Amino acid sequence: MVYLITGGTGFVGSYVAKELLKRGDKVVAYDFMQSNVMQQILEPEEISQITIVIGAITDLARICRVIKEHKVDKIIHLASLLHPYSDNFPDEAVQVNIVGQTTILEAMRIMDVKKLVYASSVVVYGNQSSHDKLVLDNDARHAPVSMYGATKSFNEYLTNHYTKTWNLDTLGLRYTLVYGPGRVRGATAFINALTEPALGNKAIVPFGDDVVDWQYVEDIAALTVKCSDVGPTKTKIFNTRFDVRSIREAGEYVKKLIPEAEIEYREGKFGLAWQLDDTLLQQEIGFKPQFPMERGLKNLINYIRRVNNLPEYE
Ligand SMILES: NC(=O)c1ccc[n+]([C@@H]2O[C@H](COP(=O)([O-])OP(=O)(O)OC[C@H]3O[C@@H](n4cnc5c(N)ncnc54)[C@H](O)[C@@H]3O)[C@@H](O)[C@H]2O)c1
Repeated sequence: MVYLITGGTGFVGSYVAKELLKRGDKVVAYDFMQSNVMQQILEPEEISQITIVIGAITDLARICRVIKEHKVDKIIHLASLLHPYSDNFPDEAVQVNIVGQTTILEAMRIMDVKKLVYASSVVVYGNQSSHDKLVLDNDARHAPVSMYGATKSFNEYLTNHYTKTWNLDTLGLRYTLVYGPGRVRGATAFINALTEPALGNKAIVPFGDDVVDWQYVEDIAALTVKCSDVGPTKTKIFNTRFDVRSIREAGEYVKKLIPEAEIEYREGKFGLAWQLDDTLLQQEIGFKPQFPMERGLKNLINYIRRVNNLPEYE
């Protein structure tokens, strides 16, 4: 199969590309810039197998040409501006996130692309304080509290409209907190503070009173690719849930791994409604994450040790 990954040289995109290459699929990575995340994550021989196309996500003609030239079968759409960038530059957020999603749906419709898997986010639900229930159903009310969340929420409605009107095969995934080597952008990169002790530094960890849903990036890539393999699903946009654990529990694990670690927690909560009910995803797709928080954090910490020529932790 030939895949077009938008945002393909970014964080999640690089891991999705790696996962597809492992299976022998062909990858076209379409991105505004060739970020160094891909160079960090993939081996040079893997990168050499990827066709990287530099282009804007709003350039419909170019995307249609790329689909035609490379005979693209499926699209994984990840290009997006994140939070807080989207709040600071709302005009750009509308262009990249909303016009970008429209462009991909138009390209899919015009070029008869078989399947679209796209990234939505837990941010469509906004803060926990906006909801009566702790664990949110797949069709819980959207209550975004940021430009980023509002664009993701609109994109779900937009995609459902295209899906119904033109009978497209689309599938959206509401990722929660995706972490791992190469995660540098976006507000939830705050959890990287927990890795400071890997380099002998004190960790000052914000939101010490919160829980988050730890989604290790290799699991997210595997789930995303798995979703691209299935035929049309009854549900078109899925909640996801991997490993809901507290920030302090993660800190305790870091202390176990690095006994000399010094960790200070700042009070407060990030505040998102982190706990999603993924029953529909399990019924219609079925996915078991392979990286509980401990395994994911250990991988991330050992990656940091490796790139700094330090011995890894057992
Ligand atoms: N990382 C997370 O925790 C998380 C959580 C929920 C949802 N998501 C979603 O997952 C997707 C991937 O996120 P990520 O963490 O890999 O972010 P990322 O910033 O690493 O990747 C996004 C990519 O989009 C590209 N891009 C931005 N503007 C563009 C434009 N105008 N034209 C073409 N490409 C453009 C960027 O260059 C970047 O490589 C996004 O849709 C994001 O909203 C991520």
